[in-house]
Formats: sequence, C-alpha cells, structure tokens
Amino acid sequence: MIKGVIFDLDGVVVDTAKYHFLAWKRLAEEFNYEFTEKNNELLKGVSRVRSLEIILELAGINLTENEKSELAEKKNNWYVEYILKMDESEILPGVVDFINLCKGENMKVALGSASKNAELILKNLKLLLCFDVIVDGNKISAAKPDPEVFLKAASELNLKPENCVVFEDAEAGVEAARRGKFHVIGIGSPEILKAADYVIPGFKGRGIELFSEM
Ligand code: BG6
Ligand code: MG
Repeated sequence: MIKGVIFDLDGVVVDTAKYHFLAWKRLAEEFNYEFTEKNNELLKGVSRVRSLEIILELAGINLTENEKSELAEKKNNWYVEYILKMDESEILPGVVDFINLCKGENMKVALGSASKNAELILKNLKLLLCFDVIVDGNKISAAKPDPEVFLKAASELNLKPENCVVFEDAEAGVEAARRGKFHVIGIGSPEILKAADYVIPGFKGRGIELFSEM
C-alpha cells in the first residue's frame, strides 16, 4: 500500500533541466567542447561535481581539484542567475494538483533531490509548503544512483521504501529508487527510463489511480 510519495525536483516539479543544460553548455564552450542534449542525459540527477567530471571525461580534459571547484562554482553562478528569473509558469503542469490529491488521500509528501539549490527554487516559487520533508544535495553524501537521498526521505517520513513511490525524470534517479527498493514512476521518455515501473509524460490529468497496481 502506498503511504508516501517522493518527488525529484529538477525535471519533475520544475522545468529547470533546461537551465542546468544551458549553464553546462556555456561552461563547455569555454574549453571548446560541444556539449549536446544527448550528453546532458548523463548528467540528469547527478551531483554538480560528478556532472563536471563527466563533461571533462567526455572532452578528454584533466584538471586539478581546485580548478574543478572553480568551474563548478562558475556553472552554478550562471545556473542561479537563470533560476532567479524563473516564475510560477515553470512549475511543471499538473504537479501541484497531483501533490494535493496525494495529500487528500493522507499520503505524506517528500522532496528527494540532488540539488543544493532546491530550497532556493522552492522558496522562490512558493512551493516549500507542498512538502512534509525536504532532502536535498546539502543533506546527503552519496549522489544518485546511490539510494541515500530517497532512503533518507523515507526515513524522515517514517515510512518503508516499499510503501513509497518515487517520481524521477533521470536514469540515475530511477536506478537509485530501484536500488532502495522503492516503487518508481518515470517522468519523460520510456526509452530512457526503462527501469521504472512505468513512465508517464507528465502529471497533467493524472490521479492516484497511478498507484492502483502497486
Ligand atoms: C539534479 C539535476 O537534480 O541536481 C542535476 O538533475 C544537477 O542536473 C544536480 O547537477 C545538482 O544540482 P545543483 O543545483 O546542486 O547544482
Ligand atoms: Mg531530475
């Protein structure tokens, strides 16, 4: 029986995946590497530092830890510039209604995100109160596909993984949910999110019938 729902943030609650992409692409241009949308799939759900390492590996570039932290900070400054301009139209369609439906059925609601900017985004878009529990990149040490973020969220909700559904748009996030023994619904493309229980394009028009076979 489903008693809790855990939402990833970027690409599930808010349309920020495009801003991560733009900021990484801008950074990659500085070392003349053409970063594509296809490459970007590898970064979804992955921590900031690990994302940078993946781009550097793709571009065949070796840097010191100091140089890497400077670049990660630069990318983040651009990313924060983009997200500070976001407004409520960038909350993904139907997600707030869906959260309210879950609450109406007495389910508990958590955020499980790798982002260290999660609270900033939720605060700006007035979404903080949607969540009973928020676990973000500042509270975890192991990045997705490690299940730590979801296990922590379930534990703060006082629920077992088998009683929770994770919503994820990233391959690494779906894998993290699987490793933690959660139910997982992918948001996006079934070709990419193969390991999910099932995949939907978005929340618009969806209700808790989504959980009927879980
Ligand atoms: C995830 C995104 O939610 O957060 C990744 O899917 C991102 O693309 C990661 O790298 C870390 O985000 P931030 O905001 O801490 O750089
Ligand atoms: Mg995501």
